[in-house]
Amino acid sequence: MSDADDSLPSHLLVDVQGAATRLLAGGVVAIPTETVYGLAAVATDDDAVSRIFRLKERPATNPLIVHIEGPEQLPDWAPDVPAAALDLADRYWPGPLTLVLNRARTVSDLITAGQDTVAVRVPDHPVTSALLAELRRRAGHPVALVAPSANVSGTVSPTTASHVINGIGRYLGPGDGVLDGGECRVGVESTIVDARHSALRVLRPGAVVIAPTPVPPNTATPVVPGSQSSHYAPRAAVTLVTDSAELPTPRGRQQLGLLAPAEIDTPAGYLRLGSPEDDTEFARGLYAALHAADDARVTQIFVVPPAAGALRPAVLDRLIRAAAARPDQAEGTESGLGS
Ligand code: TXA
Ligand code: MG
Repeated sequence: MSDADDSLPSHLLVDVQGAATRLLAGGVVAIPTETVYGLAAVATDDDAVSRIFRLKERPATNPLIVHIEGPEQLPDWAPDVPAAALDLADRYWPGPLTLVLNRARTVSDLITAGQDTVAVRVPDHPVTSALLAELRRRAGHPVALVAPSANVSGTVSPTTASHVINGIGRYLGPGDGVLDGGECRVGVESTIVDARHSALRVLRPGAVVIAPTPVPPNTATPVVPGSQSSHYAPRAAVTLVTDSAELPTPRGRQQLGLLAPAEIDTPAGYLRLGSPEDDTEFARGLYAALHAADDARVTQIFVVPPAAGALRPAVLDRLIRAAAARPDQAEGTESGLGS
């Protein structure tokens, strides 16, 4: 995580105090987490939660993750937490792990999209931890925040405050804000695990790697509405290749980009979008590279994924979704549900 960016438009920026004030008054505030920036609202404020859906152009059928300060808040959201889930919470919270659990009856249908489950995590970022503590201090009780990634549905998630401002800044009003916490350390969204049963299932790969547990036959597959193909898509087309031998020679006015491990050279005519040394660096810089490609009007992005490492599955998952989107759909949501 790097320092906050001084060059951002100041009318949108808030500090922890300002963020707390705006959230408690019903505003929405973009917050830093270790994974990506989230667009936060107080989870019990239905009006503010509805506004997140409208602002992101997110379908109401796509549920939100509830961000809590610590596992002691779990019973407010999920009353029956299996031992295996508690073990995970114990090991990985705060951290990039989201648990899908049976919901408490009091959880708003807006958050769960009417499902019987709720997704919960404890983010690991000092600025957002300070915000949650400040909200608890002011309210006199713990305050949870819903926070989907702070981007328009279907587009690339933000990992810096300037990504947030470039993507959704124009939709934020005077009662909203952006809390700058520097560059996100992990860079891809949290691992989502269906933790309702002793057999754990990974619904979205992320930085926390859970060994698969055998799932009994005929168990229904839980729905992760936001994990359909055609997500995380920049305007440019994304093409996955295994090595630089597959890269075409640039022609005419097209601007080609390359994101590849450091040991791969940049062919003539390509704009280099990143040279990560390993899977961790790949994940951390992935979305910034896709944003940079759009800023530079790259028409096609070629990506050589990391060959190994714990973050390889998460990086590949996001790249395959980005590659599944047609470039002319990248700004829209007609192809599916956004996250
Ligand atoms: O790292 C993250 O998880 C980031 C940061 C901001 O915390 N948040 C994030 O939120 O990625 P979002 O809304 O962009 O993605 C949440 C995903 C969606 O695919 C959604 O469908 C899924 O979580 N989800 C939410 N509630 C669920 C539930 N009850 N059951 C299954 N999937 C759920
Ligand atoms: Mg998302």
